[in-house]
Amino acid sequence: MPRITFITSAGAHHEVDGRSGITLMEAARDNGVPGIVADCGGACSCSTCHVYVNAEWSTRLPPAESAETGMLEFAWEPDPARSRLTCQIIVTDDMDGLVVQVPERQI
Ligand code: FES
Repeated sequence: MPRITFITSAGAHHEVDGRSGITLMEAARDNGVPGIVADCGGACSCSTCHVYVNAEWSTRLPPAESAETGMLEFAWEPDPARSRLTCQIIVTDDMDGLVVQVPERQI
């Protein structure tokens, strides 16, 4: 079971077990990670599940598709190199050790 760390803007670390096949947003939500709002429930239409992926992981994740990159333009302070929507990332076993940072706020 991949272990994923969410770091809040205040520096709190939340390590969660991310079951393979669920989304990163669902892993955060199911474990009460603060700051992942996910207003649209994973439909890629709100951008409130935005995170910054740590640099070492940004090239290891499947690339964002156009719907995700389009929606990221509405996220709070997006970083083209590191921003992702957690509802668009399906957890896999090889994501063990993934670290993402939750932005200070969601839009
Ligand atoms: Fe709305 Fe991810 S939950 S875009």
